[in-house]
Amino acid sequence: MNQQQWDSVDDYFTGLLAPADEALTAALRDSDAAGLPRINVAPNQGKLLHLLAQVHGARRILEIGTLGGYSTIWLARALPADGRLVTLEHRPEHATVARGNLARAGLDKLVEVRVGPALDSLAALAARPEPFDLVFIDADKVNNARYVEHSLRLTRPGSLIILDNVVRGGAVTDSSSTDPNVLGTREALRLIAEHPKLSGTAVQTVGVKGYDGFALARVLA
Ligand code: SAH
Ligand code: DHB
Ligand code: MG
Repeated sequence: MNQQQWDSVDDYFTGLLAPADEALTAALRDSDAAGLPRINVAPNQGKLLHLLAQVHGARRILEIGTLGGYSTIWLARALPADGRLVTLEHRPEHATVARGNLARAGLDKLVEVRVGPALDSLAALAARPEPFDLVFIDADKVNNARYVEHSLRLTRPGSLIILDNVVRGGAVTDSSSTDPNVLGTREALRLIAEHPKLSGTAVQTVGVKGYDGFALARVLA
């Protein structure tokens, strides 16, 4: 098995099950034009996020790590008309691209892009009368455990927390790693494993994004 095969299979799945439309195509085009890194979720992963949000009946979604708003579009499209998505992005130039992409997708009324370090934005988010039903964590991996902790504070029993990029090309198993991304991811996985209010798992994936994976956790009562 190699990257070329993974690409072919992803292209096949995506063409069949998660085909691009005008807003998604334009979002990636404008992200490219603005020089954003191509680290958005793959289309079939975006569709998975969309389906998870729908299956869950999510009305309030929190995203940490917006980039150009590509995953944001998939998630926000799962919301009902009175739904709400808050997405956190450190870099103003990324947020500007994301806002344009979300407006073109007709989602700007549902989505709020908050600019700044996510830890600051999260600290400023008070526990809400309407807690988040779903959190997608996809920013700097070094702070993953902090993001899970904030997610616990801002969600409710039954909420879903999704953590992207947990495989690190296999390095996640290296208990002596000094890579901050690996350390942050391992710390978050241990927190999910040990926290009495979380039940989770992690799944490896291959595809256009190479060898990676995601973790998924449910907030318990
Ligand atoms: N979710 C996006 C990809 C996000 S890439 C998608 O799939 O389409 C990660 C993003 O997190 C980048 O835009 C990066 O600028 C942002 N980021 C990195 N560190 C951050 C921080 N401390 N706070 C908020 N955002 C951060
Ligand atoms: C990186 C970040 C991501 O969120 C991702 O999905 C892939 C790669 C990165 O920082 O390299
Ligand atoms: Mg990611």
